[in-house]
Amino acid sequence: MAKQVLILPGDGIGPEIVAQARNVLDVVNNKFSLGLTFTEGLVGGAAIDATGVPLPEETLAAAKAADAILLGAVGGPKWDKLDMAIRPEKGLLGLRSGLELFANLRPAILYPQLAEASSLRPEVVSGLDILIVRELTGGIYFGKPRGVRTLENGEREGYNTYVYSESEIRRIGRVAFEAAQKRNKRLCSVDKANVLEVTVLWREVMDELAKEYPDVELSHMYVDNAAMQLVRAPKQFDVIVTGNMFGDILSDEAAMLTGSIGMLPSASLNAAGKGMYEPCHGSAPDIAGQNMANPLATILSAAMMLRYSLAAEDAAAAIEQAVSDVLDQGLRTRDIAGSSGESVSTQAMGEAVARVLADR
Ligand code: IPM
Ligand code: MG
Repeated sequence: MAKQVLILPGDGIGPEIVAQARNVLDVVNNKFSLGLTFTEGLVGGAAIDATGVPLPEETLAAAKAADAILLGAVGGPKWDKLDMAIRPEKGLLGLRSGLELFANLRPAILYPQLAEASSLRPEVVSGLDILIVRELTGGIYFGKPRGVRTLENGEREGYNTYVYSESEIRRIGRVAFEAAQKRNKRLCSVDKANVLEVTVLWREVMDELAKEYPDVELSHMYVDNAAMQLVRAPKQFDVIVTGNMFGDILSDEAAMLTGSIGMLPSASLNAAGKGMYEPCHGSAPDIAGQNMANPLATILSAAMMLRYSLAAEDAAAAIEQAVSDVLDQGLRTRDIAGSSGESVSTQAMGEAVARVLADR
């Protein structure tokens, strides 16, 4: 049966990098007879400009109907002055919560070819392979009450609520324990249980769950220490599980260990395994439209989509191999060019991946 993929290019570099991923998907769609069909939708600033809102109902409905979603990036200075409720980011957050995509998987893998591109010494990062499992539909991102109010003395006060229910912690915990079972069986749960009650509960629930996964070694770490350990000795980690905001921060940090945030894909899954796939980087307005951005994180996100939502492991592995091959060929976009300085365009990088796939 035909499978429907919804493509949401979004803003900034989104359309450029998504075009390259789409091209790669077309190649594997033919080659592996996947029977994928594609539709496009509006989200973020692009949707605000066209319809006035960051997540048109039509887009949410199309996302619910699709088998999988590939998203570029949202946001940019053009929309930064808008009210919080209708900012481009709300489009992304609305998709995450509307589809209950609570499990965000962010693998940080160092391609050996890029060891020199990392800001850390090659021996500290070589062989790095970490999976960050970030809770994506709860925590302080969604907690209520939230807002900015004016106190009796006339001073304004901003407030957000950091809240997790036991069941929310348990379901993300299970995803992480199961991921660890398929890897090196080590799980580090990151919290701030020395200060925040919500994460005291987080820790308790993770400890309870650990009894059901005796083959996985669970450890706990405070988030400040985790941030430090990620740059001190990142290879100590296998799987990291953490809440929404800590996961946002630590995944950017982990991304840079691999040389560039332009290399990091992600999957956001719901309980039924339905998913939205997007690069971890943002819309990079400073280089948008310049054919300069690295399309590999989006291409690798498309590979994750084939693996997790479209039951096409062969095609996923072929894309990942093709990415590694073009790196072997020495192709580098500007972000991963390192000191050599030689770099290729977004389009040249995407076409090289597509060509390797088509030729094999
Ligand atoms: C991410 C991004 C988003 C987030 C923004 C764009 C809302 O930083 O996916 O990591 O904070 O989750
Ligand atoms: Mg982020």
